[in-house]
Amino acid sequence: QQLNKVAVLGAAGGIGQPLSLLLKTSPLISRLSLFDIVNTPGVAADLSHIETPAHVTGHQGPEQLNEALEGCDVVLIPAGVPRKPGMTRDDLFNTNAGIVKNLCEAAAKTCPNAVIGIITNPVNSTVPIACEVYKAAGVYDWRKIIGVTTLDIVRSNTFVAEKKGLDVTSVNVPVIGGHSGITIIPLLSQATPAVSFDDEVLEKLTDRIQNAGTEVVNAKAGAGSATLSMAYAASRFCNSLLEAMNGKEGVVECAFVQSDLTEAAYFASPVLLGKNGVEKNLGFGSLSDYEKQLVAKAMPELVGNIKKGEAFAAS
Ligand code: APR
Repeated sequence: QQLNKVAVLGAAGGIGQPLSLLLKTSPLISRLSLFDIVNTPGVAADLSHIETPAHVTGHQGPEQLNEALEGCDVVLIPAGVPRKPGMTRDDLFNTNAGIVKNLCEAAAKTCPNAVIGIITNPVNSTVPIACEVYKAAGVYDWRKIIGVTTLDIVRSNTFVAEKKGLDVTSVNVPVIGGHSGITIIPLLSQATPAVSFDDEVLEKLTDRIQNAGTEVVNAKAGAGSATLSMAYAASRFCNSLLEAMNGKEGVVECAFVQSDLTEAAYFASPVLLGKNGVEKNLGFGSLSDYEKQLVAKAMPELVGNIKKGEAFAAS
């Protein structure tokens, strides 16, 4: 049986619209369910005219949330408010935490077996919130609640290819840790093809990857945060996940999941995807001394972000 009904919650937003467009073109999706609190009928009508097989439905407002979620195999959540200049991802916390909590309560009830991809920031906190909601509902499976960090990999691949003059389609940089600032840890020592940098370049490149979101926030000058690149990254993740859920073997993406690899209860690392979402955490192999330092530096902030999410869910 094909696993291929996907919902996008927050589908009318800056991320949600291009993400829904990309998913509409995916051959792996037969039903695409769009949910938002505004503008959903328009987005759904517009996308439904595209000559690809995915059948698009639009659902608007809390009273239509359950019908949006019914029978879903994958639920992607970019609903929330975006970051403006001067705001950190953490500043978004209060609004977005509540939105993710509500949406996950509905998903845990209506499609408890679906794999949930959380995009809403701060991901370091919203993923723990989602997990706590599922625990409270008695349907928690760590393999199915996944923070989508693919944009960190996408950016790392792009920046490394630029720096080294490589074909970007052949570059792959694993990225571990969290999804904000210094918690983002690119493993340039494990890049394929192998690349090396002198210390100064390595530090600059790491800093650019860690602050790439801010680069976009500043360039957009008040209009929001990354939307198009995030939509690309989320659709790449969703397609990988659907391929794996439908039986393709050996599909690996980095993702932020509950983890015992470090003292942080959630940690992004390469994971093997399969029919249940994450089949296996592959760990992050051996780190360079510089990368070990980055992990140590990230830990207090990451642990704090996770605790903040857990405390919110408990309140
Ligand atoms: N349920 C569903 N959708 C909601 C809800 C809700 N409770 N609350 C807000 N939304 C919708 C908004 O109506 C809007 O269409 O979420 C969408 C968010 O879109 P934008 O404001 O354009 O924000 P965007 O740039 O897409 O970012 C959304 O993703 O990466 C993160 O940091 C980013 O947390 C932010 C989120």
